[in-house]
Amino acid sequence: MKPVIVDVDTGIDDALAITYALKSPELDVIGLTTCFGNNSLENTTRSTLVILERLRKTVPVYMGADKPLKRGITKFPLNVHGEDGLGNNFSENPVREAEAESAVDFIISQVKASTRNYTNSSRAVNESCPGYYKSTGDNPSFQRSDHYGWCSVAPGNVTPYSEANILADPEAADYVFSSGLPVTIVGLDVTMKTILPAATTDEWRAIGTDESRFYADMTDFYIQAYETFEPGFGGCALHDPLAVGVAIDPDFVKREEWNVKVVLDGEETGRTVASAEGEPKVQVCTEVKAEQFLDHFLGRIL
Ligand code: BDR
Ligand code: CA
Repeated sequence: MKPVIVDVDTGIDDALAITYALKSPELDVIGLTTCFGNNSLENTTRSTLVILERLRKTVPVYMGADKPLKRGITKFPLNVHGEDGLGNNFSENPVREAEAESAVDFIISQVKASTRNYTNSSRAVNESCPGYYKSTGDNPSFQRSDHYGWCSVAPGNVTPYSEANILADPEAADYVFSSGLPVTIVGLDVTMKTILPAATTDEWRAIGTDESRFYADMTDFYIQAYETFEPGFGGCALHDPLAVGVAIDPDFVKREEWNVKVVLDGEETGRTVASAEGEPKVQVCTEVKAEQFLDHFLGRIL
C-alpha cells in the first residue's frame, strides 16, 4: 500500500476522487488536506467531511490555505459544483470536525517522518502551495492531485488560457513547478479525455442504495454544468479522479519531461508555458488510456 495525502478543494470531481482513493487497496490515505478553490475553505472542508461520513471513513482532515499566496481570491462559478460544492445535494452538517493541526504542519510532519531527503524542499513547497498530492512512502514522490492546465495544447477551462486551479493561485503553481521536486502534472490535456458518460448516473441510481443515489445526483449536477457550458458534451471530465488513477497505476498515462512556467501577469495569467529547455523539469502527462482508466474507476467507485 502506498501512503498518500490527498489535497482537495471539494468539489464534485474531488468527491469522486476521494471515494476512488479510499476504495483502492493500492493506496493508504493517511490524511485529506483541504484548500480554497471550488468553494471557500470552510465549505470545501465541510464537503470533504460529508463525503467521509457517507463512506463511514474516519481519515483525518486538515485545513489548509483559505486564500492565494499573493493575490485575492478569484471566485469560481458556483454553478459548476453547486452552492454547497456537492451539487446542492447535502443539507446535513458533518458530525466530525477538521483536526486542529493545519494542513501544512501535517504534511511537513508526515514527510519528515517518512524521509530525510525531502524535508526542506517539501517545507518550502508545502508552506507556499495549496493543492497537490503526495506519496509519503520510502520513495516519496510529489504529484498534483488537482490538474493543471497544459495550455500549450489544451485550452484553459476558466479563461482561454488558464485552468481553474492555476488561475486560483498562479504564483503557487509556478513555485511548485520550479521547486525541483518530482512533480507530475495531470493536466487538461489528459483529464479532458477522461469523460464519464452521462448515462452512468442512471446505472448508479438503478443500484438503488442511498449511496448510489447520492453519487448519481451529485454527479448529474456536474454533468449538467458541462452541458450548459458545452452543449452536447455528454458527460463530465474526471479531472481529480485521474490524478488518483495515475497514483494507483502510472501506466494509465504517458509522460514527457518539460520545464513549466506560469504566466503571472496580464490577459494570459495562469497560462502554463512549457519548454524542452531549462531546469527543473516536471513530468507532464500528455496521453491517457482513457477507456482503461474509466473501467478501473467505475469498477471501484460504487
Ligand atoms: C478543476 O477545478 C475544479 O473544478 C475541479 O475540482 C478540478 O480540480 C477543473 O479544472
Ligand atoms: Ca479539485
